[in-house]
Amino acid sequence: MDLTLTREQEMLRETVRAFADEVLKPRAAAFDRSREFPLDNYRRCAELGLCGMMVPEAYGGAGFDGVSYVIAIEEVSRACASTGVILSVNNSLFCAPVQRHGSEAQKRKYLVPHARGEKIGAYCLTEPQAGSDAGALRTLAKRQGDRYLLSGSKVFVTNGIAAHTFIVYATLHPKLKHKGICAFIVERGFPGLRQGKPEHKMGITCSGSVEIVLDECEVPAENLIGQEGDGFKIAMATLDGGRIGIAAQAIGIASAALEESLAYSQSREAFGRPIADFQAIQWKLADMATEIDAARLLAYRAAWARDHKERCSLETSMAKLFASEACMRAAKEGVQIHGGYGYINEYTVERLFRDAKITEIYEGTSEVQRLVISKEILRED
Ligand code: CAA
Repeated sequence: MDLTLTREQEMLRETVRAFADEVLKPRAAAFDRSREFPLDNYRRCAELGLCGMMVPEAYGGAGFDGVSYVIAIEEVSRACASTGVILSVNNSLFCAPVQRHGSEAQKRKYLVPHARGEKIGAYCLTEPQAGSDAGALRTLAKRQGDRYLLSGSKVFVTNGIAAHTFIVYATLHPKLKHKGICAFIVERGFPGLRQGKPEHKMGITCSGSVEIVLDECEVPAENLIGQEGDGFKIAMATLDGGRIGIAAQAIGIASAALEESLAYSQSREAFGRPIADFQAIQWKLADMATEIDAARLLAYRAAWARDHKERCSLETSMAKLFASEACMRAAKEGVQIHGGYGYINEYTVERLFRDAKITEIYEGTSEVQRLVISKEILRED
């Protein structure tokens, strides 16, 4: 594995960084306050090919590799973490499973417009009683002639407010545990799908998280992805990719915290000197920079593994675990370096601190990542 970035990857970073600085960053605080879904951000990202980054051009995507995807999500999240996760969900949690497991007809009908960014996708796995224990989901799928009827409730659905299409995981019977779970492509307009209450979140406030309620929602049988019972493995394999996106988001948030802290510590004076002259501050900055670099290398390795290996759970969980915890530490130290100013919302680090926390929770908590990692290394022994 060669970790030197190619000329194309370097150019992508420059392009996305310039776009994020010019377009996304100036709007981020206002979107954070208004909680409005940043539709125009999504449209502008679509123009740059950021909605279906790893989808082949034949299916409307940009045909990039995994490392390029990490670079782009990092740069977007450095400016606006909400836009980062909105893109990550459409790329990793919607486009990827349709591309990997969908039929040709599903790819033509659903992958193409979502990869082009003409539509927005979402992923419905979590339920009120089933978060970390995803196999315990209770949304029921009942076959009736040429369609399925889905009944249940999904929560914390990122992009749910604006999504045109959802991948919904439902079980043929809870007694079958994970072997009964199926994955369906569900359009917003299918009879029986209703949007529930929006979630009022601590951070990433404008990523449109809602409850999605299914009341005998009618889904054509051809919208089943793969075979009956394939759903849990599709969900897990999808999360292997999704967790790389969240690692990249975490690296972006942490990098922003470091940049803010570098600037502030060189301009703020105490005891007659810039606070960056004090070793107490220098060590914080050094730790932040080192951990961000380590997280980036883990994320690149995970992206490379995703491109080259059948199963990459170990690499992706390590990247997601380390990057999210490094992000939280960087955001915490960023606030600390800013002192009282870090605690008020006129300063960016206040938002970064709130945005950082979710990276340790969604797409598998840190505890779940440790579970996956320990399972993998025990299996290797
Ligand atoms: N790829 C393919 N197959 C996989 C897999 C993977 N990554 N992980 C597990 N499997 C297979 C196993 O091989 C096993 O197959 P067999 O039946 O053939 O043996 C089967 O799936 C069951 O696996 P486990 O026994 O490991 O399953 P488990 O019930 O113990 O669950 C878990 C494991 C890791 C805890 C899993 O439930 C999990 O990841 N939980 C967290 C859920 C999560 O991340 N939710 C996030 C919601 S989405 C979100 O957050 C989106 C957003 O808002 C941005």
